[in-house]
Amino acid sequence: MTPKPEDNCVWGKAAIISQEGDPTKVVKVYDVNLGELPQDKILVRSISSPVNPSDLSLIRGSYLAKKNNRIFKVKNPETGEEEEVCGFVGGNEGVGIVEKIGPKAGSAANGSVSVGDWVVKVKGSDGLGSWMSYTIVDSDSILVIRNKDKITPEHVITLKVNATTAYRMLKDIVPLSQGDVVIQNGANSGAGQFLIQFARMWGFKTINVIRDRPDFNEVADSLFELGADAVVKDTELGDPKVISETLEKVGAPGGAKMAINCVGGDVSMLMVKYLSDRGTFVTYGAMTTEPISVPAPIFIFRNINFVGFWLAVWYSENPYSKWAEVWEEILQMFREGKLVPQKMVPVPWYCNGSPLETSKIQQLVTDSMTAKSKVYFKFD
Ligand SMILES: NC(=O)c1ccc[n+]([C@@H]2O[C@H](COP(=O)([O-])OP(=O)(O)OC[C@H]3O[C@@H](n4cnc5c(N)ncnc54)[C@H](OP(=O)(O)O)[C@@H]3O)[C@@H](O)[C@H]2O)c1
Repeated sequence: MTPKPEDNCVWGKAAIISQEGDPTKVVKVYDVNLGELPQDKILVRSISSPVNPSDLSLIRGSYLAKKNNRIFKVKNPETGEEEEVCGFVGGNEGVGIVEKIGPKAGSAANGSVSVGDWVVKVKGSDGLGSWMSYTIVDSDSILVIRNKDKITPEHVITLKVNATTAYRMLKDIVPLSQGDVVIQNGANSGAGQFLIQFARMWGFKTINVIRDRPDFNEVADSLFELGADAVVKDTELGDPKVISETLEKVGAPGGAKMAINCVGGDVSMLMVKYLSDRGTFVTYGAMTTEPISVPAPIFIFRNINFVGFWLAVWYSENPYSKWAEVWEEILQMFREGKLVPQKMVPVPWYCNGSPLETSKIQQLVTDSMTAKSKVYFKFD
């Protein structure tokens, strides 16, 4: 919904969460009145925003991040009456276009900002997540994408979470040299696909574990196309013959240097068998939500180092100039065709430039919470 000129208030559609729980039940889509654009703020029309696993964990109440509830003025979807709702807008990653700049608004976090710029929100404890068609932001809470050449919104909405996660995990956890091997599970995830491609570019080899499935060969082939050196079914991961053949194939009979885990549970521990002694096992996700139990001999006799990784820590320890530098490096890889984003399915909130009925968007959003493929909301 475009801003209504008659009262200067900004109206948009937003997916709001008022209580923790099952995302298919607690994410509610409303017409929201964001009020008039304050003189010191910026109006951004959203373009796209993905649904990431961490968004769902936050809604369920199992993610360590503040929710920052606020009061929204909304239209009741059933009665059309205006009412107030307390909650936060879902989504933690998206790209939008600057539509209007208040006369007293300052610069963006990385310098000047103009109408028409593509921007990514980088900070905010305002409860305004990315699953909304319009938003009002502080100027210093956004980074401007300076060079849009050959870049699509689908590139930009992978930067903040998955691409930078894969990039930093390969750079920061253990020093890796040309030819070193890493093993990862959930290898067909967005983060996993980026990791394969960065590893290939930087001369590291990857062993990639995915769940067994009827179309295993097809998924494995898609990972080989990205540069995977080996792809292993989770059901065969612990087989001694598969272990020795796979390590031989990647030229590391002595074992991999790092295991990268986003799955959890006993199946993830099988990756330890692929590690060299004194190797590192890093956990950055928990798709099964199952704990990892480590037998004492793995510590005592093999001295495996168990660590965690959370990108939020890197973001909190680095200035926005550094974020922009890494993102621009990744965008340049997209431009040069060295990197491709994860395939995502668009879920449109608009048709021919007009927003869909709120009830229709509600249905689409509810279905998106359990989608098998990665989805992103498209606001244009
Ligand atoms: N720590 C951090 O800073 C950080 C940053 C980014 C992402 N992450 C985490 O990284 C993980 C991947 O995120 P993403 O956005 O890349 O995910 P995604 O693209 O949505 O893919 C999800 C992946 O998880 C797998 N999966 C789902 N349920 C599973 C289960 N029960 N057992 C085994 N595998 C399962 C899927 O495999 P199938 O195809 O077999 O379903 C797929 O590979 C998530 O856990 C996310 O929270 C962490």
